[in-house]
Amino acid sequence: MIWSGFALTALIALFAQNALTQTGSAKGSDFLRFACSQLVIERTDPLVNPGVIPSSHMHQVVGGSSFNATMDPAVIDPSTTSSCTSCKMSEDFSNYWTASIFFQSPENGTFIRVPQMANGRLNGSLMEQQGGLTVYYMHAFSGTNKNVTVFPRGFRMLAGDPTLRTKQSGPVTICHRCLAKNERTSGGSGAPCSSTDYASFPPKPCPGGIRATVIFPSCWDGKNLDSPDHRTHVTYQPGSALAGDKCPSTHPVRIPQVMYEIMYDTSGFADPKYYTNGKQPLVYSFGDPLGYGAHGDYLFGWKDGALQRAMDALGTNCFSETCPVLKLQSWENTVACTKAQQAKENTGTDTCMYALSVL
Ligand SMILES: *[C@@H]1O[C@H](CO)[C@@H](O)[C@H](O)[C@H]1NC(C)=O
Ligand SMILES: *[C@@H]1O[C@H](CO)[C@@H](O)[C@H](O)[C@H]1NC(C)=O
Ligand SMILES: *[C@@H]1O[C@H](CO)[C@@H](O)[C@H](O)[C@H]1NC(C)=O
Ligand SMILES: *[C@@H]1O[C@H](CO)[C@@H](O)[C@H](O)[C@H]1NC(C)=O
Repeated sequence: MIWSGFALTALIALFAQNALTQTGSAKGSDFLRFACSQLVIERTDPLVNPGVIPSSHMHQVVGGSSFNATMDPAVIDPSTTSSCTSCKMSEDFSNYWTASIFFQSPENGTFIRVPQMANGRLNGSLMEQQGGLTVYYMHAFSGTNKNVTVFPRGFRMLAGDPTLRTKQSGPVTICHRCLAKNERTSGGSGAPCSSTDYASFPPKPCPGGIRATVIFPSCWDGKNLDSPDHRTHVTYQPGSALAGDKCPSTHPVRIPQVMYEIMYDTSGFADPKYYTNGKQPLVYSFGDPLGYGAHGDYLFGWKDGALQRAMDALGTNCFSETCPVLKLQSWENTVACTKAQQAKENTGTDTCMYALSVL
């Protein structure tokens, strides 16, 4: 429970900042938050490289077991084609995926995949011992207007841009927090993507791990399930990473704001000798040695009505993982939901030969 308090304080602090730039009524935020265990680690990407096996780079995937190299929205409905989900919310067969991080040894050039670890902030009731990530569906509101429209079937989107190699102007929506050794269990506190977080990889050793945050847009054009770049059918509220209730006229529909937290266990790669002369040894699986290209992919797959039910109950009868209008599955069933690789590859924490070829 203490961890819920931390996160809530963090978000309220951030929304309070947003409120300073807006005029008007009371502000607040609520969220659904739950753990998802690892479904598979492999090089497939039904959003950006549909049908391509292997896809351009390695991903760590969670959610519905119908995840596949091809997921045509006209054909596949994850809520009926999945046999299980690796998320604690048993009506959620969405897929959530991000890139892996490798340590490239400055000594011999080889790559070792940085393991993922439990999100300590959720530890106790929720554990991601099999990697995975933490999912948030956030809902900011102003005054009494709590309306939010849940994604239609077939909806998908991407946050971030794998081609970025510099810091962008404007609000930071994707970031890395460097955890000190004693923050390993807490997962760090405070607002996501605050001024002490990095858009790049942290330029220093992180003995307690790195908490990567991916904040998705909160406004939708109301028409398109996807767009050619997987981004332009959605947008952030102008000037703000986290949602308020001021969507622009081009994207007037307020959608739940999806956020991921991914914990990378960098404790084994924190020797200060790897962080000299402005260098750091981490590299994303898509060949980004700086970290600015971090991104996340989302493919909606909740059972009919379930997410809307939860969003409508936020603030009264639903918060974080305690949400009686939804069904939780046991931790054992959550971690038991895994999927065989389609793109066969060694993804252990051993040397990853593939990474050598993308760089
Ligand atoms: C993935 O897609 C292929 C081709 O459409 C299909 O044969 C296969 O059964 C699918 N796998 C899963 C797990 O749905
Ligand atoms: C390369 O160096 C890293 C440490 O930087 C070490 O962990 C790894 O075992 C080495 N690999 C080989 C093949 O020598
Ligand atoms: C909320 O949505 C309902 C149904 O779509 C609509 O009737 C109502 O006017 C909306 N309320 C606000 C404050 O936008
Ligand atoms: C989470 O809790 C388990 C047991 O309660 C513990 O073994 C594990 O180290 C914890 N994980 C973290 C990241 O603190």
